[in-house]
Amino acid sequence: MTAVVLLLLFLSVFSSFSSSASPPPYPYDYILVNYGRFTCGSDQFGPGFSNDTDLFGRSWQSDKDFRSTSDESTVRSITTRNTITNTDQGPNYFPMKLYQSAAVVGGKHLEYELQVDAKLDYLLWFHFAEIDSSVTRAGQRVFDILIDGKNVKRIDVFKEVGSFAAYSWNYTVKNLSSNALSVKLQNVVGAVLISGLENYALVPADVATVPEQVVAMRALKESLRVPGRMGWNGDPCAPSNWVAWEGVSCQQNKNGTALVISGIDLGSQGLKGFISDQISLLSNLVSLNLSSNSLEGVLPSGLGQKTLRRLDLSNNQFTGPIPQSLATSNLHLVLLNNNLLEGQVPEELYSIGVHGGAIDLYGNKGLCGVPSLPDCPLFWENGGLSKKGKIAIAVSCVLVFCLVMLVLYIFCIRRRRNDYDFGLPQDLTSLSAKRNRYQRQKSLMLLEMESQHAKSLTPFTPQ
Ligand SMILES: *[C@@H]1O[C@H](CO)[C@@H](O)[C@H](O)[C@H]1NC(C)=O
Ligand SMILES: *[C@@H]1O[C@H](CO)[C@@H](O)[C@H](O)[C@H]1NC(C)=O
Ligand SMILES: *[C@@H]1O[C@H](CO)[C@@H](O)[C@H](O)[C@H]1NC(C)=O
Ligand SMILES: *[C@@H]1O[C@H](CO)[C@@H](O)[C@H](O)[C@H]1NC(C)=O
Ligand SMILES: *[C@@H]1O[C@H](CO)[C@@H](O)[C@H](O)[C@H]1NC(C)=O
Repeated sequence: MTAVVLLLLFLSVFSSFSSSASPPPYPYDYILVNYGRFTCGSDQFGPGFSNDTDLFGRSWQSDKDFRSTSDESTVRSITTRNTITNTDQGPNYFPMKLYQSAAVVGGKHLEYELQVDAKLDYLLWFHFAEIDSSVTRAGQRVFDILIDGKNVKRIDVFKEVGSFAAYSWNYTVKNLSSNALSVKLQNVVGAVLISGLENYALVPADVATVPEQVVAMRALKESLRVPGRMGWNGDPCAPSNWVAWEGVSCQQNKNGTALVISGIDLGSQGLKGFISDQISLLSNLVSLNLSSNSLEGVLPSGLGQKTLRRLDLSNNQFTGPIPQSLATSNLHLVLLNNNLLEGQVPEELYSIGVHGGAIDLYGNKGLCGVPSLPDCPLFWENGGLSKKGKIAIAVSCVLVFCLVMLVLYIFCIRRRRNDYDFGLPQDLTSLSAKRNRYQRQKSLMLLEMESQHAKSLTPFTPQ
């Protein structure tokens, strides 16, 4: 019945509002989230309800359903067609129609009960206009506003703006203790009158999570198959005092311009997927707990950001080697026990235990190479050739090459000395000289023969 329609209209026009009374948790503006916008003494109007226009597209609900005044018969509606001044003006452009009607209570008081979320602060806007022409001077209609029983303001509309003029007043409610907010108008002189009431949740417009970390978190949501019940929707961190993703903790970055992921705690959640390698984008991650799930696959090589201090992946089915990135991080606690990991444990990682931290590798049959674990097969580590193995192969290659050269030397170079003379031998030069000589002689002979032959063919000419 009194359920407030959460239109969740984010009014950009108000978003630059910030409370000076008490500094917000973050040095940022608020987003005003509509928790109720009522027109008093009239039917609902605005987009979706009627053809009445509102410059900002606001819809105004009738206040009837939100009144908790015990005696409804004391509530009257009054309306006017007169022009109301100070309406449809910047910055808020409240429509004149809002002030052309009012709820009036001649009895003791008029009370509204508003549904709220106790975690948030609320901004209440009260709208008044003296539209009863019988009120002609200040002091003829005076009433108090009480919020959750506390008297916060005395109102005399005529005194403020005269008649047929809009008068708005706002109040911020903090430290709520329940999910119902009582707003009471208590008469002092004459009847209580109100034209409209708005209730906005002050959601800190705090800065979103760093975009690449949002990308990483969405990838993890997919890969870890995080169940819907954990509410991993929207921004992982913001708005910070509203709803962050379950199991996710966030911090402001260094200059306070964005939020970053500092912890993921999803132990014993029945997860069945794997760790996306996008986790390397979480460059501010301090703590990661995925223990006691049914996660599989290899540990991504980007796991182990410099910030990472605590890593609990125990009691899963992770396979493959421990990535070298874990060895170079600043881990203080590493629980990898009861998985299916294999290969050489990086020595730097093992030394965490020596330097006052804790490491547990128990129950991984394939891990090797540090005290209390079996030795690794020669030249084999992290599921591939070890550095030593590579050096060994390089050395063998060099040796084989040398051997081949030696053999070549023995079979070719040394035999040359005995059997062949690869230099230009004296004989050969003289041979070619001889041949040249022979050739020259031969061509001379040919020339002679041809010329004689030619002579014999030419007709004889007596000398
Ligand atoms: C709004 O205007 C349209 C056309 O101008 C009309 O058909 C409709 O009945 C109007 N609605 C109301 C609630 O007056
Ligand atoms: C609330 O009212 C005060 C004056 O009482 C005004 O300075 C302030 O701007 C109002 N708040 C908003 C959001 O306009
Ligand atoms: C709200 O509560 C905080 C701490 O709980 C306190 O410091 C502050 O004074 C309270 N503000 C009001 C307006 O009561
Ligand atoms: C804040 O720091 C981030 C990096 O952490 C940087 O990209 C950003 O430009 C900084 N913003 C300001 C306003 O200094
Ligand atoms: C990780 O989560 C499990 C289950 O929620 C919990 O028992 C364990 O203590 C956590 N590990 C660390 C290092 O806090």
